[in-house]
Formats: sequence, structure tokens, C-alpha cells
Amino acid sequence: MDLFIDTANLDDIREISRWGILRGATTNPTLLSRESGDYNMILQEICGLVGGPVSAEVLADDAEGMVAEAEQLAGLHDSIVIKLPTTAEGLQAAGELKRRQIKTNVTLVFSANQALMAATAGATYVSPFVGRLDDIGHDSGEILADIVDIFSVNKISTKVIAASIRHPLHVTQAALLGCDIATIPPQVFRKMLKHPLTDIGIKLFKQDWEKKQKKQTEKQALDVGL
Ligand code: E4P
Repeated sequence: MDLFIDTANLDDIREISRWGILRGATTNPTLLSRESGDYNMILQEICGLVGGPVSAEVLADDAEGMVAEAEQLAGLHDSIVIKLPTTAEGLQAAGELKRRQIKTNVTLVFSANQALMAATAGATYVSPFVGRLDDIGHDSGEILADIVDIFSVNKISTKVIAASIRHPLHVTQAALLGCDIATIPPQVFRKMLKHPLTDIGIKLFKQDWEKKQKKQTEKQALDVGL
């Protein structure tokens, strides 16, 4: 499973891209609205940093408007993927953008049938929102599993991005279920990396090494004294 970063914050992307594990990024209007500066330039900089697909979302409600926004966004960088909502107009735009060879990520997917329709319309990616499903008491694992199975059984090549990830267990769940990608907020990446036993282990290795060095120095001093 590929790991994407779910943010528009350049400092966070710079930090985590240095780990060498990022294969792409996703943004949305909420994430971009938290940043200051020119949004087009931010998107271009993200593309340069992650070196993989970067999703940018349209705001129009009608298919024609979505396609026009998509053309503008796709012109920013070869890595841009157009995020479209799971609506009738979004599906129509997905089909038109496929014909224009522009990649799409159909977002705000909350059911297996929505994912199936988005894929059939021509989406390159679909993004089921696991965190928001769990928030309203649904079993996001069950819905993700259904989508992955439906795509596999029906030989659908559309990729599944587990989105709206809230904690490390969501990532483990997505990987176990066979999602193609999980798009992960920076704070969840940091939690995934951190383990108290790793920190304790590093401390103990250092302590043991320093003890041994000290003993050797003391022995050498004694030997010189003799
Ligand atoms: C990614 O494609 C989504 O826009 C994002 O994961 C939504 O996450 P949220 O539910 O935490 O806002």
C-alpha cells in the first residue's frame, strides 16, 4: 500500500518527505484554506516535494464548471489529479476528464455503491472517508473491505485511497484490507513512527555503550599508572 500525505502544509510535507516514504499527496479546500499564500503555487510546490500524484479539488457544482476548473488545475503540473465530489455532476465530469486524459480522484465516498459508480464513470482513484464514517457510528472497515473486494472481483483498475484517516489503526486496517493507498495527516505519520520501546531501546543501547567506553578508559588509565 502506498502512503500519501493528506495536507497542504509545506513545512509538514518537507519534514515527512525527508523520511523517503511519501508516494503522493491529497489536498482539499479545507486543508488549503488553512495555508497562506497563492494556492496554485502551493500546489506546484507540493508536486515538486512529493514527486507523485497530488490531488486538488474543484469547487464548481456543475460538470461543465468542474471540467473548466480541472483544466486549469491540471495545467499547473503533470502530477495534479482532479478531486471531484460523488454527485451526478461529479460522475459526469469524471467521464469527460477521462476522455481528456486527466486523472481524477472521486472524493467524499461513503458507500460501496458510490465507489462502484465512480469507478464505472472513469475515476482513476476513489476516496472512501473512513474517519467520517466512524464518526457517525458506521463500520468503515466493512465498507472499505466491500470496495476492495468489489474492485478485485470485477477487475476494476480504479485505485482505492483510504482517506479521512484519524489514527494509526486506520492505516493498519487499510493495509490489511488491501487498499492501494492511504492518505495520512502529518500528525498520524508521527504517531505511526513513534513507539516508547524504540525510544527506551535507543537510550539503553547508548547507556550500555557509554558504560563500556568508561570502563575501557578507566582500565587504560590504570594500565598507564602501572
Ligand atoms: C482526503 O482526500 C480527504 O480530503 C481528507 O482525508 C478528509 O479528512 P477529514 O475527514 O479528516 O477532513
